[in-house]
Amino acid sequence: MGQVHVLGHPLIAHKLTYMRMKDTPTKEFRELVQEVAMLMAYEITRDLPLAQVEIETPVATTQAQVIHGKTLAIVPVLRAGLGMADGILQLIPNAKVGHVGLYRDPETLEPVEYYCKLPSMLEEREVIVVDPMLATGGSASAAITAVKQRGANSVKLMCLVSAPVGVERVQRDHPDVDIYVASVDEKLNDHGYIVPGLGDAGDRLYGTK
Ligand code: PRP
Ligand code: URA
Repeated sequence: MGQVHVLGHPLIAHKLTYMRMKDTPTKEFRELVQEVAMLMAYEITRDLPLAQVEIETPVATTQAQVIHGKTLAIVPVLRAGLGMADGILQLIPNAKVGHVGLYRDPETLEPVEYYCKLPSMLEEREVIVVDPMLATGGSASAAITAVKQRGANSVKLMCLVSAPVGVERVQRDHPDVDIYVASVDEKLNDHGYIVPGLGDAGDRLYGTK
């Protein structure tokens, strides 16, 4: 069973509170999504393997460390995941980026895939699927299936706000995938929105409502 990591760093908790506030304007909301995603990426990448290299400083030759092994692929789920990818890329600018386009059918709440473009050699990469909201879990589960079908075998899921039912769905569908969230909220409402949540992440990021 994949583990659920709730990243409770005080900076993440503080910024998430301002994202939840309904009067936070689009510009600030977008900045906060980027900042929280960057902070979460810092936590998620704690276990990246390091290799020794010999370097020359202006003073001496010395052994130093660089990141070694699998290169990262960030896969935002369109559209709201894009806001998170921008933040992660500020920290890991060399990461490759794939895109999975999904929308949630408002009637059935089932995800519909409309786009998928992923980096090559996915089987050699550490893939981080990112989406701010993990509600029913249908979109995240479908996005993870999409990257696995194209070769990924090491996948993590990073979301800002989650509902217990969504976490359980991903754990059931993808027991090999660890889940990283800033919060596990109380429940879903009748429209499939996370309560208390932060509303529609895509609309708040792009000002479309
Ligand atoms: C939102 C969100 C997730 C999905 C979560 O996207 O960004 O992708 O809903 O819901 P689920 O866990 O119940 O599947 P939405 O479908 O609103 O599309 P958008 O990002 O284009 O706004
Ligand atoms: N998608 C969102 O953007 N927000 C929710 O609360 C649930 C799904």
